[in-house]
Amino acid sequence: GRQGGRSVPGTDFEPVAPNSRDAVTVPEGYEQQVVIRWGDPVVPGAPAFDVNGQTAAAQAKQFGYNNDFVGLIPQDGSGRRNFLVVNHEYTTETEMFPEGSYDEANPTEEQVRIAWAAHGLSVVQADRTRDGGLEVKPSRYNRRITLDTEFEVRGPVAGSDLLKTSADPTGTIVHGTQNNCAGGVTPWGTVLSGEENFHQYFAHGERVTDPVQAERLDRYGLAGGETTRKWERFDKRWDISQEPNEVHRFGWVVEIDPNDPNAKPIKHTALGRFKHEAANVKIARDGRVVVYSGDDERFDYIYKFVSNGRYKPGRSAHARRHNMALLDEGTLYVAKFTGNSPAEEIDGSGTLPSDGEFDGTGEWIALASGDKSFVDGFTAEEVYVFTRLAADKVGATKMDRPEDIEPNPVTGRIYAALTNNSDRGAAGKAGADEPNPRNGNKNGHVLEWDEDGTETKFRWRLLLVCGDPDAADTYFGGFDKSQVSPISCPDNVAFDGYGNLWISTDGNALGSNDGLFSVPVTGPNRGQVKQFLTVPVGAETCGPVVRDDLVLVAVQHPGEGGEPGSSWPDGGHARPAIVAVRKSDGGRIGA
Ligand code: FEO
Ligand code: CA
Ligand code: CA
Ligand code: CA
Repeated sequence: GRQGGRSVPGTDFEPVAPNSRDAVTVPEGYEQQVVIRWGDPVVPGAPAFDVNGQTAAAQAKQFGYNNDFVGLIPQDGSGRRNFLVVNHEYTTETEMFPEGSYDEANPTEEQVRIAWAAHGLSVVQADRTRDGGLEVKPSRYNRRITLDTEFEVRGPVAGSDLLKTSADPTGTIVHGTQNNCAGGVTPWGTVLSGEENFHQYFAHGERVTDPVQAERLDRYGLAGGETTRKWERFDKRWDISQEPNEVHRFGWVVEIDPNDPNAKPIKHTALGRFKHEAANVKIARDGRVVVYSGDDERFDYIYKFVSNGRYKPGRSAHARRHNMALLDEGTLYVAKFTGNSPAEEIDGSGTLPSDGEFDGTGEWIALASGDKSFVDGFTAEEVYVFTRLAADKVGATKMDRPEDIEPNPVTGRIYAALTNNSDRGAAGKAGADEPNPRNGNKNGHVLEWDEDGTETKFRWRLLLVCGDPDAADTYFGGFDKSQVSPISCPDNVAFDGYGNLWISTDGNALGSNDGLFSVPVTGPNRGQVKQFLTVPVGAETCGPVVRDDLVLVAVQHPGEGGEPGSSWPDGGHARPAIVAVRKSDGGRIGA
């Protein structure tokens, strides 16, 4: 492998060693601080957190559970004042409620209502402190979005019969958002957030007999029976047998405008309905807005949306309204990746083919644009609501769980995390191909491709095939594998101001805790993965934000599912939280 010279700017720090500590561990010379944790006050009148006396009314005013995406949006040129926007992906009631107080077979209505209020998003004012930290402030912008908040449905299926319910005969107003995983900050200062594993909230007691409806439910993982959380007992909208269309009102990309605390959040139907991990924007050279999004499921797809209209620069309310409306009219595409090496050289072992790269060409296949469908047997409405089935039909490439996808603001290249796929190559499943070159893929990989955004052809290659650098089935961009940190299960991606890629992980299959990693993507150090931090036992690392002098991560589900569990961050009941890391001398990160 290539030997790097000195560490490149942004990545010059002593890597953190893999560990299993119940702590956030940062490099020598760095300091950490908890910015906000589950239960901390968000809006005026929020009571102090009391894990033994939690109520739905309190939770609706407090920071929600299981923080995932983090957006830090500057309100001024200096970045001193900011909006901090955070997703609360899901609840794990057995860990959230004190031991012995939650009966999985019979949750109380108040416990269910607490969970509804613990989902959604939080918006808080977060200002830099004199010593370079980040502090949450009381502010008129502070806001909780929960499963009770009204959303406006926009785009081509707003008002469609497929979205009408007994509570909303217009098919345009949805209460709430759930399973918001990752997301993106738009160039116009709003946040896009992906509704990911929405299927797990819906029961259907009586088996659906209509074959068309049954196929649609199956393809979205709606297997039937009761749900784990039993919400269907307290609101019939969670029961598909009673409200067949409510499930069509989740699985979208939503948009939150933190600049206006009274703005109704939006569900953007033009971006399709699937298990959206996230959504990130690139402005093409001609001004059209391109949004990338992955469908996080084994053997599912990578999508992009290209707007018809053109981006208007600036952060005025007028520009924001204009740009938000761009996401309602455009074309939805799905990706097909073709390898350039002989098929027999891709044997599922992860060994590099003879041309030295996992690489090839790609094509974007149009699915629908406005009310026009490009898929045989599907109306445009059906393409948007049953996007997975439409994409199956056109021969899109089945990927190893597409997670976060984001354009590099320095080079313009696009990066996608493919977290893992233990079923690749299993009996009856798709085997390895050049873009997904390992069977039984436990550790995931990172894909990059070159496009301005609006073209339909592109070139791609793998940047990383993750795992133990000592193992033959890993690849670190051609860099010397004796000089890199082990990395497994890439999930969220971000970039620093130099254009280095930062990757957070979920589900480290190498046996130690998850973490955050930096990796240069150009020059002689391309592929030099270095671990910047580790999170507590049982946690995943989410929402990385990398500013010149500050790193933020979301510590999600500390202690989940494990013994002895976690008591992070305060030594008591474990609480998901946002952590800020800065250099002790106040200097630039990694420099
Ligand atoms: Fe919620 Fe795909 O991670
Ligand atoms: Ca090749
Ligand atoms: Ca994720
Ligand atoms: Ca995850």
